[in-house]
Amino acid sequence: MINKKLHLSVWQFVLASVFVTFSMLQSAAQDLDTSDGEPAMPVEAEAAPEEDTIGDAAAGEKLFKSNCASCHKLYKRATGPALFEVTKRREREWLYKWIKNSAALIASGDAQANEIYNEYGQSNMNAFPNLTNTDIDNILAYTNTPKPVAQVLGPEAQAELAPVDTTMTNNIVLGALALVLVVLIVVLFAVNKTLKRFAEANGIQTEFEDEEAETRTPIWQAFIQNQFLVLVSAVFLLLASAYFAYGALMAVGVDQGYAPVQPIHYSHRIHAGVSQIECKYCHSSVRESKHAGIPSLNVCMNCHKQIAEVANETYQEGINEYGVDYNKEIQKLYAAVGWDEETQSYSGEEEPVRWVRIHNLPDLAYFNHAQHVQAGNIACQTCHGQVQEMEIMYQYSPLTMGWCINCHRETNVDLQGNGYYEEIHKELSEKRGGRQLTIADLGGLECGKCHY
Ligand code: HEC
Ligand code: HEC
Ligand code: HEC
Ligand code: HEC
Ligand code: HEC
Ligand code: HEC
Repeated sequence: MINKKLHLSVWQFVLASVFVTFSMLQSAAQDLDTSDGEPAMPVEAEAAPEEDTIGDAAAGEKLFKSNCASCHKLYKRATGPALFEVTKRREREWLYKWIKNSAALIASGDAQANEIYNEYGQSNMNAFPNLTNTDIDNILAYTNTPKPVAQVLGPEAQAELAPVDTTMTNNIVLGALALVLVVLIVVLFAVNKTLKRFAEANGIQTEFEDEEAETRTPIWQAFIQNQFLVLVSAVFLLLASAYFAYGALMAVGVDQGYAPVQPIHYSHRIHAGVSQIECKYCHSSVRESKHAGIPSLNVCMNCHKQIAEVANETYQEGINEYGVDYNKEIQKLYAAVGWDEETQSYSGEEEPVRWVRIHNLPDLAYFNHAQHVQAGNIACQTCHGQVQEMEIMYQYSPLTMGWCINCHRETNVDLQGNGYYEEIHKELSEKRGGRQLTIADLGGLECGKCHY
């Protein structure tokens, strides 16, 4: 009867504490998820006035991109003037004439034509005699597309976009620790009760029996008196702390998943993925050197002298899915190299961009890119993951010694078109009974190869 009662209360206690721990964990998780879940939508500017709705903007966009985009932008001056709402500045008839043959209009002595011709340093616009008035109406409809306006994301939404979230795992560790403590308390509590019963059953008088409430043997005293219990709890505590300490130590210097915020939001997804620019175009030193290298901003300007703005769909995607105003990021690039869009020239005012380094082996280890990429024929993606899909670059592999060694054990030597290896391979392979050789057989596990 007494025993039953005891069990019941202990179990109730355990259940209650488990419940408390879980609700703590849950509320912690909810703290993380405080955003109200409303996707940030771009705010469209006001629709164009009705008089300008002649023509099909979608068809016009195609014509504009193939004929005009090399010299004109909608909202910004390029080789030619910005064309947004040009129908408000000029008569439609004038525009037909101008676009079909601007030189003829200028030669005819038209005042407006000569004015803008002189304003743009008498540079010549192509003639487009093959465009019909309908084509031109379509193009002009497109030039009236209002500029999309970005809405700045709140901090919560940005936190949601962050690729790695370590807070959650921290909370789980804390929760586990709390649980361990609670269980410990329960055990002690139960032990105290059992000891008391034991004493009672054996008729042992505990010192302060009469003044029940304040005068029981304190729990800690009962605990200390039971040597077995002290031993068990000590072992338990040691194991628990060793477990957590081990985990923490193994994580020191391992930055898998590290994705710092860069000074310019540079997307590998857009460049290496959508635009299919080769990795080696930018990371050109991988071919012959230890380092892959980060490209200088001059390399960026090879393209970005022309590309001041991303395509409309790309822009929308950036705002909606990644919370980034891509065009602003390109402006940061311009500010860094001192590129003046108005004059299409360098102003000479530069402020270097400091990219945050992501992959970093400790000094004691030696790693050579050329050896792996050129000689070893390993794709970048094997070690760096699907970079062409990364909006934000992060460290994909652990970069630990075990990681290097595992691959050296498992990878066979690539013999294709490599006379040097064929020789060595033949020799070694004979010694090892003719089997395929791995990098380990070549000496890829020797300390000196990777450590200075
Ligand atoms: C080779 C570059 C070039 C191309 C291609 C080009 N333009 Fe132009 N455009 C100019 C320049 C430069 C001017 C400024 C006047 C000048 O110097 O002739 C101009 C002026 C204009 C103007 C007058 C703008 C104003 O504010 O009055 C319109 C309209 C225009 N272009 C429309 C077009 C359209 C439509 C196309 C495509 C079918 C096109 N342009 C293709 C270079 C170009
Ligand atoms: C248009 C130029 C360009 C191309 C193409 C490009 N990258 Fe990059 N890469 C950069 C820039 C700029 C950075 C530094 C900013 C960053 O980390 O996002 C970088 C950073 C990196 C980093 C991290 C460097 C560090 O700090 O540890 C890796 C890894 C990388 N690129 C791999 C690749 C791979 C693999 C490809 C091909 C699939 C590729 N890159 C294509 C420009 C480029
Ligand atoms: C080979 C051409 C090329 C090179 C080199 C290049 N870009 Fe781009 N960049 C593009 C194209 C194309 C787009 C996107 C156009 C689109 O989708 O409308 C773009 C878009 C961007 C954007 C907006 C999207 C994003 O990634 O955030 C930024 C910022 C940018 N580039 C920065 C850079 C930087 C910095 C470098 C140098 C490390 C660089 N680019 C090198 C072609 C290039
Ligand atoms: C065998 C694995 C492996 C392969 C394959 C590989 N990398 Fe790396 N990469 C690393 C390691 C390890 C580091 C860290 C090096 C260090 O800190 O010294 C690194 C660092 C980098 C860095 C930043 C630091 C630096 O070295 O300049 C860039 C950029 C980079 N890699 C790009 C590339 C590109 C591009 C390719 C493909 C052409 C590639 N990597 C292929 C393992 C690899
Ligand atoms: C994805 C597989 C892979 C990973 C990961 C890898 N390696 Fe290698 N490693 C190779 C291959 C393949 C070769 C042989 C290249 C060749 O043919 O010369 C090689 C060769 C080497 C060599 C020359 C060995 C010799 O005997 O000449 C060194 C040094 C080396 N790797 C260091 C490292 C270090 C340091 C790391 C970790 C940071 C690492 N490797 C990670 C595949 C890998
Ligand atoms: C294939 C390359 C490679 C070989 C072979 C290699 N190491 Fe390492 N070693 C590394 C790398 C990379 C690191 C850095 C790991 C990190 O930062 O977590 C490292 C780290 C270490 C460390 C520092 C402790 C640590 O974990 O950070 C010691 C000690 C060490 N190696 C000893 C050795 C000894 C002894 C051998 C020979 C039996 C050896 N290594 C062979 C690549 C190698």
